[in-house]
Amino acid sequence: MADKIQSAYKASKNIYDDVLTQGSFFSRFYIRLFWSGTDDNEIARRVLSFIPEDFHGALLDVPVGTAVFTANAWRSLSDAAITCLDYSEDMLDGARARLSGCEHVSFVQGDVGALPFAPETFDIVFSMNGFHAFPDKEKAFSETARVLKPGGAFIGCFYIRGKSKITDWLVNNILSKKGWFTPPFQTEEELRRRLTQLYSRVELDTDGSIVCFNCVK
Ligand SMILES: C[S@@+](CC[C@H](N)C(=O)[O-])C[C@H]1O[C@@H](n2cnc3c(N)ncnc32)[C@H](O)[C@@H]1O
Repeated sequence: MADKIQSAYKASKNIYDDVLTQGSFFSRFYIRLFWSGTDDNEIARRVLSFIPEDFHGALLDVPVGTAVFTANAWRSLSDAAITCLDYSEDMLDGARARLSGCEHVSFVQGDVGALPFAPETFDIVFSMNGFHAFPDKEKAFSETARVLKPGGAFIGCFYIRGKSKITDWLVNNILSKKGWFTPPFQTEEELRRRLTQLYSRVELDTDGSIVCFNCVK
């Protein structure tokens, strides 16, 4: 499973940024047809807006991917200590290039299911488009909660099933087979139940098949 994910993201590293940021006619058509027009640029603005502009604590971005959506924000948070973790070295290389020269940002290759950090290390755990890719979601939920300080925020977004038949079809028949997504996927209600067990405050907000969350431990 891990090898499948590594090679899927290695194979897509040259088109990944373009498809997600809708840089071409093809990617805009793909998003409109299969993703109800949900704009990842807009989703990124929404989840990043949950982070205070003067944030100066410790933040974990998992999975950072190529940092296509987060690099500008992380660059501007120069008083924070930002750790970017991803399983794929190819994706991490993209993030390193985008954030070169930022001494407050560090990079770690690792598995969200076995985070190499002590409990209660971070003030914010930020996770954009990660949980639909993670192979062991239960470990990912418990590990991200473990490394968060009490009172810290778990912020991010990912795909949930049950909102759009065509999106669910694409995810089950193409994206999961290629290794970009990994089942099982949650519904909004299943996710709400799981987050409520881990966090004292849970806010969810959906746009098409993408759920944004802002939780406090
Ligand atoms: C869809 S990308 C999202 C990247 C970025 N957050 C974004 O929004 O562009 C999913 C990422 O999850 C990473 N990933 C998959 N399984 C992982 C795991 N077990 N631990 C850490 N990262 C993982 C992949 O390498 C990939 O970079």
